[in-house]
Amino acid sequence: MSTVALENTVDLPDFPDPAAARVYDDAFGLVGNTPLVRINRVAKDAAAPVYVKLDAYNLGGSSKDRIGINIVREAIGSGELKPGQRIVDFGAGNTAIGYALAGQATGHPVTIVANPTLSPEKANLLRLLGVDIVPGRSDVPAGHPDHWAAIAERYEREDPSNWWARQESATSNPHSHALSTGPEIWAQTGGRVTHFLAAVATGGTVSGTGAHLKAQNPDVQVIATDFAEKADKTNARAYIERHRGFEQLERDFPANYDLDVLDRLETRTKAEVIAFGWEVARTEGLLLGTSSILSLLVALEIARTASPDDVIVSFAADSGRDYLTREYNAPWLRENGFGEIADRFA
Ligand SMILES: Cc1ncc(COP(=O)(O)O)c(C=O)c1O
Repeated sequence: MSTVALENTVDLPDFPDPAAARVYDDAFGLVGNTPLVRINRVAKDAAAPVYVKLDAYNLGGSSKDRIGINIVREAIGSGELKPGQRIVDFGAGNTAIGYALAGQATGHPVTIVANPTLSPEKANLLRLLGVDIVPGRSDVPAGHPDHWAAIAERYEREDPSNWWARQESATSNPHSHALSTGPEIWAQTGGRVTHFLAAVATGGTVSGTGAHLKAQNPDVQVIATDFAEKADKTNARAYIERHRGFEQLERDFPANYDLDVLDRLETRTKAEVIAFGWEVARTEGLLLGTSSILSLLVALEIARTASPDDVIVSFAADSGRDYLTREYNAPWLRENGFGEIADRFA
């Protein structure tokens, strides 16, 4: 057998030490302990280091493996999820992958109520994993019969063999991050993390991870990020910023937003975020989902005026590969009002 020695004459790192390559006894070992990577070329004017927590490295490709598995684990533990019951929930598909993985190991089939905007790749992936997909809508008011929560509720009410997992309000959702993501970030930064940023949907990531980090050091800044268009529609901005009179607003945001943990909400428009996603792919080589790019954009702005002792950690829930037929696709951009981004990058 011949060995090939490569002469490293360019500014690119060597391969890592093969002795450090890990072996796992089961695929579940690949959930959690995701890498933290420093941002370099798009962080040239940063005064403090910015790291991204790459949760696409989880077995099913997103942070939602953590919650899908933990929601099922805690529900079985408490006796709420009975043997053989079908797990039902609504969502954009990532959590359903986590439910599917947990369901395979524990004998629970999975149904997900999803928007028609679910990408064909994500739908095919869910079907490959054995998940049943039921069409629902998130763009109608809660209470509308086609609203995805109404459909999940109906499934549970009308058939006792169905169990609605309720990722939006289950405490086992933020708990999964308090048990894993938070301790991982604390350990990976040697306790030096000063800022944590994560995009919000259910609020589980930012609340659970933030709760753990703040318990270690109450000075850690916990910053929720959201798309400006969505934050205004759901009242999340008013709620999180505790604007006067927010009590009168419709409470259509999830119970898993923990106001004791969140310091503030930062919003950016979809157009800013998508354009930055293309830039990050071109300069940093990182393919990040749009919610991950949203947080990174804010993290880099904070880093410009931060102290050199600060350590900023931005959460990346999934990979840009999941968006190749949408936000990272020129025809889609042109059809959806983002033609200028397609002209710039594609
Ligand atoms: C890609 C992506 N980013 C961000 C989030 C937000 O995470 P959380 O629901 O924990 O607030 C989700 C979850 O819905 C997601 O799928």
